[in-house]
Amino acid sequence: MERTFILLKPDCVQRRLMGQVLTRFESKGLNVVAMKMLRITPDLAKQHYAEHVEKGWYPTLEGFITGGPVVAAVIEGLEAIRVVREMLGATNGLQAAPGTIRGDFSSSRQMNLVHGSDGPEAAAREISLYFGDDEICPYVPTITPWMRAADE
Ligand code: CDP
Ligand code: MG
Repeated sequence: MERTFILLKPDCVQRRLMGQVLTRFESKGLNVVAMKMLRITPDLAKQHYAEHVEKGWYPTLEGFITGGPVVAAVIEGLEAIRVVREMLGATNGLQAAPGTIRGDFSSSRQMNLVHGSDGPEAAAREISLYFGDDEICPYVPTITPWMRAADE
């Protein structure tokens, strides 16, 4: 069992796509184990996107990500980090495959609706950046025996 961090970016909230996006993760069999709405500050943006702060396009990314409310969540499931990234699709919505979230809903390189951790270290770092241990609510859905075999 693995946990990953997702962020429904300001374009996702403004375009009223929160429900559709969360439905995709739920339908796949992933569990939402923490969730909150917040406004990202410039300081938090720099921590979240530390690897990109020096890039020429970072200022416009910071303007975008701090420009409206976002929803942060922790998603749990088998191979959740890879599965969520594949469900998001390529970074640029114009290149993301149809059937992925970005491929189906985004026509932008920046406004690509959802962030997902790109590996185990990023997932641990990002979860702890947005959530305290006491804000995570693990549970076993009663439907689990009908989602996968017991030995999977
Ligand atoms: O989110 P992902 O890991 O797929 O892409 P990234 O290369 O790590 O970039 C992080 C985020 O920066 C992207 O999801 C875009 O929202 C944004 N971005 C941008 O504004 N301009 C670019 N030239 C590239 C990325
Ligand atoms: Mg990335």
